[in-house]
Amino acid sequence: MESKVRSLCDTYKGYFPIGAAISKKCIPNYQSMIREHFNSLTPENEFKFIETQPLEGVFTLSETDAMVKFAMDGNQLIRGHVLIWHQQTPDWVFVDQKGEAASRELVLSRMKEHIQHIVSRYQGKVYCWDVVNEAIDDDDALLRDTKWLSTVGPDYIDHAFLYAHEADPSALLFYNDYNDMVEVKHAKIYQLVKGMKERGIPIHGLGLQAHFSNFFPSVEDIRRSIEDFASLGLQLQITEMDLSVYQYQDNSKGRLQPTEDMLKLQAEKYQQIFEVYREYKDIIRGVTFWGIADDYTWLDDYPVKERKDWPLLFDEQKNPKPAFYAITSFADKEENSYGI
Ligand code: GLA
Repeated sequence: MESKVRSLCDTYKGYFPIGAAISKKCIPNYQSMIREHFNSLTPENEFKFIETQPLEGVFTLSETDAMVKFAMDGNQLIRGHVLIWHQQTPDWVFVDQKGEAASRELVLSRMKEHIQHIVSRYQGKVYCWDVVNEAIDDDDALLRDTKWLSTVGPDYIDHAFLYAHEADPSALLFYNDYNDMVEVKHAKIYQLVKGMKERGIPIHGLGLQAHFSNFFPSVEDIRRSIEDFASLGLQLQITEMDLSVYQYQDNSKGRLQPTEDMLKLQAEKYQQIFEVYREYKDIIRGVTFWGIADDYTWLDDYPVKERKDWPLLFDEQKNPKPAFYAITSFADKEENSYGI
């Protein structure tokens, strides 16, 4: 049972909203924790293209509606994740009636229809959208080779933002990606977003996924990336944070518990990273964890299949871990210094 501890989001009230990715399965299990510790929620899959329009013109939104209602009932912010991505997108989008590759015009019209249907349905409820996810290439090219790119061309990104803005002019629109602190990738993200701003594309924020580990990246690189992005004049949000206890390629399957050293290192790393986030609270306008407790995390199967991981702030019994105290204990000092 969860012991009485500080509320995470209350502790961060003077800084930024604290969010969690939630799935339909986990809502009943975690309901009280979700309400207690988080004031922003991101449905893990329920806004993705394949879930929301699996067949052309067939929108399947009852689960999405239920999640949005759940968040609104708890007075929590809702991040919409994600409209356009190369994964979890149905094949029909790129195939025409004759079964051949769809033209640029057809794909663009389908993109427009999809974005406008989803964004306008949740207008006034979803306050920000990850409009495009992971469009930057990890190798030499600027843009990742996706069907969106090969059928529409590089302006598919601009179009996605324009369609979303038309559908809900008050929603905040984000470009979202990982490894933003890796120098080459950072430069490409910067170039993409700067170009969009110069072209007058309605982009309001940059989502930094923050899938980290005890070993990567360095806190200095995280800071440098944030500081540099600050000059773009956009808000930043940390959108998918977790911190694996392993080196990326560590193959040690079969471990049933994390060691104390793993948890200690993790707590130190979380603490150092959150010190940086708090320092940049004027531009970091949200921090979302990719999950709630260690009993449910995508990292159990990624990047190594069946390698149990413990990347979050709460353990498998839903108790706060050293990492939880590491990022909340600053509040004790603040209280003491006010003589409370
Ligand atoms: C990426 C996506 C998320 C999610 C995670 C893995 O970071 O942006 O939607 O799929 O991978 O769970």
